Amino acid sequence: MAESSAGRGVEMDADAQRRFRNALAMFATGVAVITAPREEGVPVGITVASFNSVSLDPPLVLFSVDRRCLSLGDLRAARRFAVNVLTEAQKDISNRFAKANTGKWEGIDFGAQDGERHVLLPDALATFECEPYAMHDGGDHVIFIGRVVRHQARHDGRPLIFFGGTYRALEHIPAAA
Ligand SMILES: Cc1cc2nc3c(=O)[nH]c(=O)nc-3n(C[C@H](O)[C@H](O)[C@H](O)COP(=O)(O)O)c2cc1C
Repeated sequence: MAESSAGRGVEMDADAQRRFRNALAMFATGVAVITAPREEGVPVGITVASFNSVSLDPPLVLFSVDRRCLSLGDLRAARRFAVNVLTEAQKDISNRFAKANTGKWEGIDFGAQDGERHVLLPDALATFECEPYAMHDGGDHVIFIGRVVRHQARHDGRPLIFFGGTYRALEHIPAAA
């Protein structure tokens, strides 16, 4: 098995970083879009693979956002945000919300915008509507912890999977009952 040290506290050079990223990419995840209303203009929307459950009581979830993301300031200021878990049919949505400043919401009905409502993407596999619970330093990322105030799940779809730096789909497995 190939092995690599993450550098024991010293800064990683470009090659060590690449190997670190490749090792992290061996952890298969789902894909979600974090959405949040803005007071004006289109809502925030950003694709993440860093979504995870944290706590059942209280109900907490987390995701981390790169400090270079244009949406970071608005996400930090948001009084509510939602996690939209994508289906395997939503690869285009994932790609669309993974690009900065590119008409992310074109053709998507996000409802009335007054900053007071959660924004949800249509046809998600599951949604978690959250209020901010905590924010933590995560190095070059900021870790957001949300307290879930409402959630829904469809149970009739299949998840979009991200593994090895590319999209995958579950095979030979029936949709979750
Ligand atoms: C499958 C996938 C997973 C991603 N996961 C994350 C993530 O967990 N955190 C993050 O900050 N960016 C992640 N990104 C990159 C962001 O989606 C991208 O930088 C962001 O949408 C840029 O939008 P913004 O600059 O307008 O905020 C991911 C991209 C893809 C395609």
